[in-house]
Amino acid sequence: MTWLITGGAGYIGAHVARAMAGAGERVVALDDLSAGVPARLPAEVPLVEGSTLDAGLLERVLAEHGVTGVVHLAARKQVAESVAQPTRYYRENVGGLATLLEAVAGAGIERFLFSSSAAVYGNPDVDLITEDTACAPVNPYGETKLAGEWLVRAAGQAHGITTVCLRYFNVAGAGAPELADTGVFNIVPMVFDRLTRDEAPRIFGADYPTPDGTCVRDYIHVADLAEAHLAAARRLDGKDLSGDLTVNIGRGEGVSVRELISVIGEVTGDRRAPLVEDRRPGDAPRAVASAERAAEVLGWRARRGVREMVESAWRGWQLHHAK
Ligand SMILES: NC(=O)c1ccc[n+]([C@@H]2O[C@H](COP(=O)([O-])OP(=O)(O)OC[C@H]3O[C@@H](n4cnc5c(N)ncnc54)[C@H](O)[C@@H]3O)[C@@H](O)[C@H]2O)c1
Repeated sequence: MTWLITGGAGYIGAHVARAMAGAGERVVALDDLSAGVPARLPAEVPLVEGSTLDAGLLERVLAEHGVTGVVHLAARKQVAESVAQPTRYYRENVGGLATLLEAVAGAGIERFLFSSSAAVYGNPDVDLITEDTACAPVNPYGETKLAGEWLVRAAGQAHGITTVCLRYFNVAGAGAPELADTGVFNIVPMVFDRLTRDEAPRIFGADYPTPDGTCVRDYIHVADLAEAHLAAARRLDGKDLSGDLTVNIGRGEGVSVRELISVIGEVTGDRRAPLVEDRRPGDAPRAVASAERAAEVLGWRARRGVREMVESAWRGWQLHHAK
């Protein structure tokens, strides 16, 4: 098989490229470099610079590289930006996916793996979110992921493509310092950013109905996530598989914001007390995956804990933010 990884120069895409190439799969990356960094890719993975919106380019890449499966990660991923620019998010995330699926169908490719998100669920009031929990996204980003899943399944059925949608929970950490997420959009880099500025970390709301009053999330190490992609790719490669799979990718364990900040304090040695501010609109008290289906159908479980996520992310932060 030869796998095309879209968004391959991104934070998660580069980890997936490294895991798949390291396991002996042939891999080619496509990335428009709007947020990607070519140096993240291993030397044996060629990078094609271009967009999933470019039908002609996609057709050429699929043919020239003899692509037989696609891992589609390329997308815009910032919730606040999606609220401000919904048409851009639908164009890039849903339009880019439609263009890609047309090229995939035209090339007779039969395997497709889609990066979805826990954002498809919105804020369900359940202890553990299973894949059967109702989807009700609360922002345009989550909507584009849910619409993307619908499109992936419909195109799979129409064109005989076997599909997997992986719904990632809160991704953190780095497989190597140079692969770290350089954006400051998720909680771990946001806290590092505050500490680096000599400011206390912020907690948005400490009066939620959770054990310590702060929001509870399911954090997943990006290296575990990359291994889940490899497991899903191998599953797609199996001769017996047809149809579609939808799988949560999390650890099945809740960690509160306060607990996470405390681990960050231990790792960085900066244990200053966090500032408690008002709740942010749209934050669910608790969002924790049931990780059972992934274990059952992919034979995959996360192995790395929160401390390892924070330590690896901190090494990456220090590399990228060295004075
Ligand atoms: N990081 C998370 O916590 C998280 C959680 C759930 C889902 N996801 C999904 O995982 C995927 C990867 O996320 P990431 O965190 O690595 O983000 P990222 O921004 O680091 O990676 C996305 C990559 O796609 C590229 N890209 C964007 N639009 C493109 C287009 N139209 N054509 C070609 N390339 C394009 C960017 O240059 C970037 O390299 C996204 O689909 C995202 O929605 C991420």
